[in-house]
Amino acid sequence: MKHFINLKDIPSKDLRKIITDAQKRKNARKKLNNLEVDKEAPLKGKLLIQMFEKSSLRTRLSFYLAIKQLGGSALTLRPDELHLSKGGESIEDTAKILSNFGNAFMLRTDSDKKLEEFKKYLSIPIINGLSPSSHATQILSDVFTVEEIKKKPISKLNITWIGDSNNVLNSLIAASIKFSFKLNIGCPKNYQPNKKIIRYIKRNRNKIFIYDDPKKAATGADVVFSDKVISMNDKGNKIKKLKSFKKFKIDRKLMSFAKKDSIFLHCLPRGNEVDEKVFSSKQSKVWQQALNRIHVQKSILLYCFGKLR
Ligand code: CP
Ligand code: NVA
Repeated sequence: MKHFINLKDIPSKDLRKIITDAQKRKNARKKLNNLEVDKEAPLKGKLLIQMFEKSSLRTRLSFYLAIKQLGGSALTLRPDELHLSKGGESIEDTAKILSNFGNAFMLRTDSDKKLEEFKKYLSIPIINGLSPSSHATQILSDVFTVEEIKKKPISKLNITWIGDSNNVLNSLIAASIKFSFKLNIGCPKNYQPNKKIIRYIKRNRNKIFIYDDPKKAATGADVVFSDKVISMNDKGNKIKKLKSFKKFKIDRKLMSFAKKDSIFLHCLPRGNEVDEKVFSSKQSKVWQQALNRIHVQKSILLYCFGKLR
């Protein structure tokens, strides 16, 4: 049994195995409908319990279909209907019940500490479905999408992030270290990665460059990533922040600094950080990106269950 919380804690060879498995599984079910089960139904009889303490559309749907396609089933809990949320039951007792009734637990939460607490008391795998510091399932899936579209290992590509230093970027930084790809980050000075992340970058051999000029960050990019300036957990001054990001908006002009055949990716939902002309252009692969979450999360589930081929 394995947990899937942060990319930085998972060996590169396991992350690569997940991606390879996802590609094989995706190819093998091209003619199947969403709810049809993969040939050998590897997670037959298994129940994934998922809980979202914050909004979600894609993660919710993709985990539901992921476990279904593996032959299992999903149950989504509403946190406000649990004793836990009102303080009437401890994480320890909740975790014991989840472990007895279910086979894996996927949690989207406002608290990294809560993930660790659950991990301590669960005897089933826990998967991080987004936390303040990480969005690991998203970024592993995005690595898959990049390689699928570019038909090259990501280590041979120039990846650019233009946007806030948030959970998604933290996971992209970890992916850059794990998969050894060049990562340019374009972000206003006051919103650059925090000291802990900078220390993590410095501790590891890396190809990560931070610019406060979006054009410099975009130059020569094969892939340009972005995300909302204001994330769900953002408690700072929103007006001030949006103002600082004004010249970081991804429009055609900024995309012209990237390679001609570059692609645009965004985990969604979007805000005003990307111009409609880029978002709805041929370069934008955001819908393919969202759908791939199903395929990669299937292989993440198999990894957690120790059933990766
Ligand atoms: N990208 C993503 O995680 O989307 P949701 O918040 O809709 O799950
Ligand atoms: N950074 C965003 C990602 C949403 C999928 C957030 O945390 O709100």
